[in-house]
Amino acid sequence: MDNSVTPLRCFRERHALELFKDDSVKTVTSVEQCLDASRPWLCYWILHSLELLDEPVPASIASDVCKFLARCQSPTGGFAGGPGQHTHLAPTYAAINALCIIGTQEAYDVIDRQKLLDFLYSVKQLDGSFVMHVGGEVDVRSVYCAASVASLTNIITPTLFDGTPSWIIRCQNWEGGLGGMPGLEAHGGYTFCGTAAMVILGKEHMLDLKSLLHWVASRQMRFEGGFQGRCNKLVDGCYSFWQAGLLPLLHRALFKDGDSTLSMMSWMFDQQALQEYILLCCQNPAGGLLDKPGKSRDFYHTCYCLSGLSIAQHFGSRDFHHELILGADENRLAPTHPVYNICPEKVAQAVEHFHKLPIPVQTEAAINTPDTS
Ligand code: FPP
Ligand code: ZN
Repeated sequence: MDNSVTPLRCFRERHALELFKDDSVKTVTSVEQCLDASRPWLCYWILHSLELLDEPVPASIASDVCKFLARCQSPTGGFAGGPGQHTHLAPTYAAINALCIIGTQEAYDVIDRQKLLDFLYSVKQLDGSFVMHVGGEVDVRSVYCAASVASLTNIITPTLFDGTPSWIIRCQNWEGGLGGMPGLEAHGGYTFCGTAAMVILGKEHMLDLKSLLHWVASRQMRFEGGFQGRCNKLVDGCYSFWQAGLLPLLHRALFKDGDSTLSMMSWMFDQQALQEYILLCCQNPAGGLLDKPGKSRDFYHTCYCLSGLSIAQHFGSRDFHHELILGADENRLAPTHPVYNICPEKVAQAVEHFHKLPIPVQTEAAINTPDTS
C-alpha cells in the first residue's frame, strides 16, 4: 500500500497534473474526440478546476482556448459544442464562463455581445422559458445558462427575461425542489439552475425558500455525508456543487428576506461530512475526482467535486462566513462564486469590464415570433 495516500488530504498536485496531462487543453482545442459536442465544457471544467487549485494557466494555453472558442462561436451568435456545430445554450454558458476565467482582453473580445443577445432572443419562448437550441427542448437549465451569460456580459434588456421568473416558480413542486419543467420530479441539477437564475434576476423571494431549504438539506445523506441528486437515489460527488451550492444562495436570500433567525443560523449543512465524502470517496489517488468509489475520474466530476469542496470550505454569504478546512491547510481551495461557479474576482472583473460597454438593442431579425403556419 502506498503510505503517502493518507485520508483527508486533497491530492491537489496530482489533480493539477491530471488536468494538464497529455496537453489536455491543447487536445480539446485541436483534436476532435469523444465529448466532441462538449468541447467548451471541457475547457470550462479544466480551467475552473485549475483556478480552484490556484494553478496558473500559461498565457499561450489561455490564448489557444480563446482562439478555439472563437471558432465555436456561430456567425449568428452564441456558441456551439465544437466548430461548425449548431449553437446551443449549454456550450454558450461554458464558453462564456471559460472566457471570463481567462479574463484577458483577448478573451473578452471573442464575445460578440450583439449576436449573443440575438441568439438569446431566438431561443426565448412566449411563456418566459427558453429552449436549449432553436427547435430544441425547454428546461430550466436553459434559463440559467441564458441568465448567467447575459448578466456576465451586460446584455440584459428590459424584455429579455419577461415572464421568466413566473415560469421558473412553476418548476418548484410539492417536494420543495425544482424539476426540469413544471410538473417534474425535483432534482439538484435543475434546482440549482432555477434558483441561481432567480438570484440573477433578483426574484428569489418568489420561490418558497423554506421548503427549498428543507428539500436540499434533506438530500445530504447521513451515512455518506455527500448529496444525492433526488429522493431515494445514490450519493454522487457532482451534487457536492449542484446541491451544496444552493445553500449559500439560500443563506443570502433568506438574509435578504430579513428572516433574522435563519440569517444568523451558521449551520445549514454538514460542511465537515461533505468534505469527508469528497476527500475519502471521490479522489483518484493518481489525480482527478469521481462520482463515487469504483467509478472513473473525469473532468466533469473533477470540476464539480472541487467546486463542492470549495463551497463546503468557505460556506457563507455577505457578512457571514463559516470557514472550515478539513485536514491540513494545504487542502484549502480558492472560493467559488455560488451563482456562476467561477472565482468571485473573475465575476467582478467581467462585470466591471462589460458594464463599461453599452447594452445592445434587440434587432428585428431576432424577435421570436410565434409559428402560425
Ligand atoms: C439525472 O441523471 C440528471 C439529470 C436529470 C440532469 C442533471 C442536471 C444538471 C446536473 C444541471 C446541468 C447544468 C447546466 C448548467 C447545464 P441520473 O438519473 O443519471 O442521476 P441521479 O440518479 O443522480 O438522479
Ligand atoms: Zn455525477
